[in-house]
Amino acid sequence: MRILITGGAGFIGSNLVSRLFLEGHTIRVLDKLCPQIHGDNPSLSPLLQHVNGKCEFIHGDVCCLDTVRSALAGCNAVVHLAAETGTGQSMYEVTKYCQTNVQGTGVLLEAMTEYKNAIRKVVVASSRAVYGEGRYFLEDKYHYPRARNEGDLSRGIFEPRCFETGRVMQAVATHEDSLIQPNSIYGLTKYTQEHMTLLNCNALNIPVVALRFQNVYGPGQSLSNPYTGILSIFSTRILHGHGVDIYEDGNESRDFIYIDDVVDSIVLALNNEEVTGEVFGVGTGTATSVLEVAEELVSLYGIDVPIKVTGSYRVGDIRHNFADTSKGERVLGFKAKTSFEAGIVKFVDWVKGQPLQDDRYGESLDILKKRGLFK
Ligand SMILES: NC(=O)c1ccc[n+]([C@@H]2O[C@H](COP(=O)([O-])OP(=O)(O)OC[C@H]3O[C@@H](n4cnc5c(N)ncnc54)[C@H](O)[C@@H]3O)[C@@H](O)[C@H]2O)c1
Repeated sequence: MRILITGGAGFIGSNLVSRLFLEGHTIRVLDKLCPQIHGDNPSLSPLLQHVNGKCEFIHGDVCCLDTVRSALAGCNAVVHLAAETGTGQSMYEVTKYCQTNVQGTGVLLEAMTEYKNAIRKVVVASSRAVYGEGRYFLEDKYHYPRARNEGDLSRGIFEPRCFETGRVMQAVATHEDSLIQPNSIYGLTKYTQEHMTLLNCNALNIPVVALRFQNVYGPGQSLSNPYTGILSIFSTRILHGHGVDIYEDGNESRDFIYIDDVVDSIVLALNNEEVTGEVFGVGTGTATSVLEVAEELVSLYGIDVPIKVTGSYRVGDIRHNFADTSKGERVLGFKAKTSFEAGIVKFVDWVKGQPLQDDRYGESLDILKKRGLFK
């Protein structure tokens, strides 16, 4: 295949480029090389160096129609990864998130109309952020709690409660038909991006698959970006000897999926000639608490820094979300192979070989605090 990967120099993209290159595909990457991911001098970006020689690289913006048109020429598959990805940041840099994630997708789809007969598969990266809290269970039925309210959070009641009875609900696996109810601008733009892509490709008869990734981690994750990726944020703090502050009571949880598994899911989606118009949750199906992540990292780095559970919280954060993996297993044949215990060891080994990055986490929190988005 001749594959265009938008955002292909990023964390997921660079790992995908390596895999597809090994499999003998011809790859073209279109990437803006955002300084938040690649640093102020993008030519020195380790992620860019990682894809060099494995693809044709176009340094450009997915929002520019002429650039995207020429990037698409000659391609017969597209993986759309280009996006702004910070949940907290999306709550104040709203225009930027709408521009890249929504307008950028619009431009890509518009350009694709000219190549609709050539393109045999589109894969769009969506996110579990589209669900917000996701699915919960209480008193014989499923619930989809809205964003937690300020009153509860400020009193340290972090688990979502039934708004009628006030009882705490139990998080259960979230599946593809669960209610779409994003809690953040990021989540909303990801849903818009996903929905636009499915709708337009279906109309143009271009086979399309949307993958809703859970929290992805592993080699290639930006260690300098303080806005996303808790494993890398915690790692940079620990390696500086700085303490790790944990929000809420530390029991908030995520479904952490190793990068190689995510790459597998994209490759399966690209190669599958039967499945089209479908959405798949991509996770392990296992929830791990944020406190467990911090404790494991401190122990693996062997650096004794304090872990402090602060009771603070960020507006827009969800409490729990983990994937129901049954549809992906059944229809796509996808099952994550790497347990969190094994993946975190590989991640830490990789981080130990990387240059230490500045710890800009405090700065990013100050911005949230000033805007009333961190309490
Ligand atoms: N990493 C995760 O945990 C995760 C979870 C769910 C969904 N996703 C989605 O997967 C995709 C890839 O995520 P990632 O973790 O690799 O992110 P990343 O930030 O590492 O990579 C995104 C890449 O897109 C590029 N980019 C941003 N704006 C662009 C623009 N306007 N034009 C061209 N390129 C642009 C950036 O320079 C970067 O190289 C994103 O769509 C993201 O929303 C990621």
